[in-house]
Amino acid sequence: MKKLHYHENPHALHVNTLPERAYFVPHSSRQSAMEGVREKSDRFFSLNGTWSFAYFDSYADLPAEFDAWALATDEIAVPSVWQTQGYDRHQYTNVRYPFPYDPPYVPVDNPCGLYVRAFDYHPGNGARQTMCFEGVDSCFYLWINGEFAGYSQVSHSPSEFDVTSYLREGANSVAVLVLKWCDGSYFEDQDKLRMSGIFRDVYILERSAAGIRDFFVHTGLRDGYANADVQVDLELGGDVPVEYRFYDAMGYELVKGRAESRRIAFSLDNVTLWSAENPYLYTLVMMCEGEVIAERIGLREIRIEDGVVRLNGQNVKFRGVNRHDSDPVLGAAVGREQMLRDLKLMKLHNVNAIRTSHYPNAPEFLHMCDEYGFYVIDEADIECHGVTCRGHEYRESDYNLLAMDPEYAETILDRVRRCVIRDKNRTCVVIWSMGNESGHGRNFDNALAWTKRYDPSRLTHYERASFPPEGEEINKTDLDLYSRMYPSIEEIDAYFEENRVGKPYILCEYAHAMGNGPGDLEDYFCCFDRHDGHCGGFVWEWCDHAVDMGRTVDGRKKYFYGGDFGEFPHDGNFCMDGLVYPDRRPHTGLLELKNVLRPARVAEEDLRAGRFVLRNMLDFTNLREFLSITYTVRQNGQDVYEGSLSEEALDLAPHARKEFQIAYPKDLQGDFAVLFTMRQLFDAPLVPAGHVLGFEQLGRQRYAAPARDEGVLELNVEQTERNVFIDGENFHYVYDKARVCFDVLNYDNLHLLRRPMEMNIWRAPTDNDRSLQLQWREYGYDRGIPRGYATEVESTDNGCVIRTKFSIGAVYLPNILEGVAEWRVEMNGVVGISIRAKRREDAPALPRFGLRMFLPEQVNDVTYFGYGPYESYVDKHRATTKHLYRAKVSQMHEDYIRPQENGSHYNCNYLKLDGCSGGIEVSGESFCFNASEYTQEELTDKAHNFELEKCGDTVVCIDAFQNGIGSNSCGPALSKRYWSPEDINFECTLMPYRN
Ligand code: GAL
Ligand code: MG
Repeated sequence: MKKLHYHENPHALHVNTLPERAYFVPHSSRQSAMEGVREKSDRFFSLNGTWSFAYFDSYADLPAEFDAWALATDEIAVPSVWQTQGYDRHQYTNVRYPFPYDPPYVPVDNPCGLYVRAFDYHPGNGARQTMCFEGVDSCFYLWINGEFAGYSQVSHSPSEFDVTSYLREGANSVAVLVLKWCDGSYFEDQDKLRMSGIFRDVYILERSAAGIRDFFVHTGLRDGYANADVQVDLELGGDVPVEYRFYDAMGYELVKGRAESRRIAFSLDNVTLWSAENPYLYTLVMMCEGEVIAERIGLREIRIEDGVVRLNGQNVKFRGVNRHDSDPVLGAAVGREQMLRDLKLMKLHNVNAIRTSHYPNAPEFLHMCDEYGFYVIDEADIECHGVTCRGHEYRESDYNLLAMDPEYAETILDRVRRCVIRDKNRTCVVIWSMGNESGHGRNFDNALAWTKRYDPSRLTHYERASFPPEGEEINKTDLDLYSRMYPSIEEIDAYFEENRVGKPYILCEYAHAMGNGPGDLEDYFCCFDRHDGHCGGFVWEWCDHAVDMGRTVDGRKKYFYGGDFGEFPHDGNFCMDGLVYPDRRPHTGLLELKNVLRPARVAEEDLRAGRFVLRNMLDFTNLREFLSITYTVRQNGQDVYEGSLSEEALDLAPHARKEFQIAYPKDLQGDFAVLFTMRQLFDAPLVPAGHVLGFEQLGRQRYAAPARDEGVLELNVEQTERNVFIDGENFHYVYDKARVCFDVLNYDNLHLLRRPMEMNIWRAPTDNDRSLQLQWREYGYDRGIPRGYATEVESTDNGCVIRTKFSIGAVYLPNILEGVAEWRVEMNGVVGISIRAKRREDAPALPRFGLRMFLPEQVNDVTYFGYGPYESYVDKHRATTKHLYRAKVSQMHEDYIRPQENGSHYNCNYLKLDGCSGGIEVSGESFCFNASEYTQEELTDKAHNFELEKCGDTVVCIDAFQNGIGSNSCGPALSKRYWSPEDINFECTLMPYRN
């Protein structure tokens, strides 16, 4: 075999490949076709499995003429990516290309893998055989029985070759040489771990020569969506008859006939429509030249009417996520099992739409989206983001270099066509996306025009088209949606106010879900909700990308991200930005999203009278058919009464609202809250009956901390220059006037403080604090030092008051804040705290303000009344309710792979830290707290969770506030509403106790 050189030639994108076609697999019998399992078709011959393999660091190391069998002495699994099989190494880069920018050339030292496999083949029913590669990264040369059979590229699109003349009866061999980079790699700069190899299925199809080569299903709905016209355009290899039958979802035959003039056409009455809520699929079976092809077809329509996106006439909102093919063990080579797991989790969390960022997924994935009900933005395999890296500062015009270059017109169109043609019969696909972050220019306008002409039935999308090159206007003819990523809510509102562009607005990415976050989901939801012209958005992104590195010696899970492989360039943990951990455990952000997207919402009309308004958030389903709603009255941390909504109350059309009433027990008095819990009524393929899809808690529940005896004896208060010593009947406290806090809280022989208590303004930066923390550090927030000035001590009727004027400053900087701290020590040992301070006006919002205590590690039992049971923050608490919860300190840590602030509980009234037969209680109007085995310094310093070391104490932070969470790791700056205030007013009560 001889080395060839097509991989640096943008005019030889594919050699000897068959023209693109819709994805389908022929069968020989109707039964097998209708069952739809391609592995069961006798016309499908899988080449998946173990192949012989040789890896070369450089294409240059492969001799000009070579014997594949002699070289390939290793073995590798197909499909897989070779980086997970012990070859090459991982690299995570976002924008920057992993090679010099010199299109179409790629490095001479281009890693490559040679795959060889022998197989026995006996041509069967068909007259010809095709070989399909569903995905190979980045390009490959193909030999069959030693003869060169073709070349192809576009990693995430299939390549099909007619191999009839290459195959022999009986023993055959196939050799595939895969190169890590090719000219196409300039168009595959997607933000992900870069992986190579034959990563999707490989198979031979037994095809008829004259039969169906391709077909395009068109459906039209009419008469108010009651009736439909179905038309299938056939591309045949010869003038041969095509018989067809059409079945409903139960397998009942509705129509049968014969195609005329290469077209199948029939009408249907009283149809059942397809939607994400009810993914009803019909089956079309076509028989031609001994082949049987079954196609599942959903009837649905997507269109724009007066600037509003309508699906089957309804103003739908995409409750979407961006999904990459990604698995910590398999890398990009995910199979059905991984896909199904993702879809199931999405359904369980109210997600109804997926953007296949930033390339087409395996064809089977879209079949699953048809079947389970997801709206899909199908995106072409294009990203040239790295074109913006040119040494100088970012320039918008650089972005368009490849988008405008005629040399790459074919490259871009080819990639778009491959996506559209393959998936054109998928019901779930409602939007075609031209790719991601590749600038804009005529190459994309051409692609948009081609797409719109080829398939006017779907909407077109390309986010960069919102930024046309200078002097040009936004595409008026072929671009349907105005798409953006990460704008602030104000910007979106302004778009509708100005009403200049006139296209429906879509967020192809928003709410960057990196680390602890996102904090702005409810606000975006409300924004989509108030604009009919907004069709929703897709959270960036579904999963954390990481590489499973096994376990540490002490058994902790080890995930690696960018930079952990010694690669250059890399983008660190920017790939850890999903709603689920790499192993698919949900982040608290996914729980937040789930409840924001709940299928129904309840609002308070008159809580006392039990009058509420129910709103159906579904687009096509009467609530009565979908949900059961129960309610629980909660008072003082207890569930006191339960009931459920009647079917009549739930009888509510999609998008409708109506009032309902519940009756409380007669003796219900005082403050209370009502928690409504929404459960799915029926068993669905991915969601079991009874699964909780959301909740709403309304009203106000308070918690009265257990009362305390007053102390009996006097207090003995003594002072030195530095300290105040306070001794009661059974306690001994020491206050440090200089540090403005207690050094010792000794209660009934329980030494509560393992280190002196301290004022605390720092938090371990979250990923969303990534830019803000630079400012925080500039202003010294990471090294604030309290300093007391004058301290007054006064005795009162029931104890004493210590009052210190103080500041918090930092080396070489003016004071961060100044104020007065007041500590009222009562005779029973209770300490009332009131701290008032003012932050320096021109300084950024503080990460937090509060007190930090190191308690003995035995104090590990936590009871609190506040937003739980998951972590909660001022702008991220929709997955939680305010209630009385109990947890162990070790369970309160949210184990982000890159450690950061976590586990806080927002808006608490009461906290009890228990252990060693005593502990401390805290009460107040509204405070937040964390209880952790780790210090914030440890969480700040360590790059991975498996490196964290426990400090040996229980670290408790009690805060007047924490700054909001937001999604500024890529999204807009934290909304001012969630900034911590300039005026600090901290009130709470500490109550040490003994059991
Ligand atoms: C977007 C991009 C995504 C991803 C994200 C940051 O700009 O489209 O691919 O890089 O930013 O995580
Ligand atoms: Mg990018």
